[in-house]
Amino acid sequence: MPIEVKNLTHTYMKGTMSEVTAISDISFKIDDGEFVGLIGATGSGKSTLIQHLNGLLKPSSGTVLVDGVDIWSKGVSLKQVRRKIGLVFQYPEQQVFEETVYEDIAFGPRNLGYSQTEIEARVETACRLVGLDTELLSRSPFELSGGQVRRVAIAGILAIQPKVLILDEPTAGLDPRGRTEILDNIKQLHETGMTVILVSHNMDAVARLCERVMVLEKGKLVFDGSAREVFAQREFLESKQLKPPEVTILMEKLRQRGWAVRNDVLTVEEAYAEIIKELPRRGVAGVL
Ligand SMILES: Nc1ncnc2c1ncn2[C@@H]1O[C@H](COP(=O)(O)OP(=O)(O)OP(=O)(O)O)[C@@H](O)[C@H]1O
Ligand SMILES: [Mg+2]
Repeated sequence: MPIEVKNLTHTYMKGTMSEVTAISDISFKIDDGEFVGLIGATGSGKSTLIQHLNGLLKPSSGTVLVDGVDIWSKGVSLKQVRRKIGLVFQYPEQQVFEETVYEDIAFGPRNLGYSQTEIEARVETACRLVGLDTELLSRSPFELSGGQVRRVAIAGILAIQPKVLILDEPTAGLDPRGRTEILDNIKQLHETGMTVILVSHNMDAVARLCERVMVLEKGKLVFDGSAREVFAQREFLESKQLKPPEVTILMEKLRQRGWAVRNDVLTVEEAYAEIIKELPRRGVAGVL
C-alpha cells in the first residue's frame, strides 16, 4: 500500500493577513515496509505534512495517492484511508478522553462497527503490541504516567490494525527509560511488516531506527535519502538547525585526532566496532 505525494502544498488561513505556507511543493513515495524518519526544525512543516497522509488536512494544491488512488478524488472514503493509515498525534495526552483505558483503545474499532468480541480481541492484541499491562484497562487514562498514556494512544491506533503507522514525536517529554521502551516497541512493530513514519527531534533514535530520512526546512523537502548519508553531513544538518547523533559526533572528534574511523556510524554498536578496529593501530590493543 504505497503512499505517494505529488507537488503537495498547504497554506493555512489562505487569503488572510496570517496566511502561512506550511509545506510547499513536496513530492515523494513511501513503499510498503519502509521505516522513514521525518526531521526538521520546529515549524518546518512535519506535523502539517503527515496530517495529509491520512486525509486529516486537505491539500491547497497537489495530491496524495494511497495505493495509487487520489484520496481526495470523488468516491474515496476518508474513513477507509484512516483505517489503513494510523496517525498518533503529537501530545496524545491531550486526546485521551474516555473514562477508562479500555474505552479509549476500543474507540477506533467501535467506530468501525466491529462486534464486541472483535473489539475485545483487538484491544488485547494492541495492549500486547505496546507492552501495556491489561490490568490498566479498567483505570482512568488520567491516572497513568506519561509513558503509559503514550502507549494507550499508540494502542488505540493499533486497534484499528492499520498498514501504516505514523507517529508524531512519540517520545517527547518522556524519561529516558520510557523513551527507550516506546522506541523498542515501534521497532518491533516495524519488524512485523508495518510501514512506519516517525517524526522526531531525537536524532539518536532516528539514526538507530530509520533506514530512510526526510528533512524538511521551512516547508520544503531538502533531503530524502539514507540515514547514513544524511547524518554524516554535519554542516548540512547544522544549516537546518539539526544535530548529528551523539555517536556520529564522537566519531568526528576521533577523526579530528587522526583516528581512521568511519564518519557515518549510526549506532553505539557500530561506533564500538570502529573504535576496537582502530585500537591496535594506536598501540593500545593490550588494554583489552
Ligand atoms: N492550525 C494552524 N493554523 C495556522 N498555522 C499553523 C497551524 N498549524 C501549524 N501552523 C504553522 O505552519 C508551520 C508548520 O507547522 P508544523 O506544526 O507543521 O511544524 P512542525 O515541523 O511540526 O513543528 P514542531 O517541530 O514544533 O512540531 C508553522 O509556521 C506553524 O506556525
Ligand atoms: Mg509538529
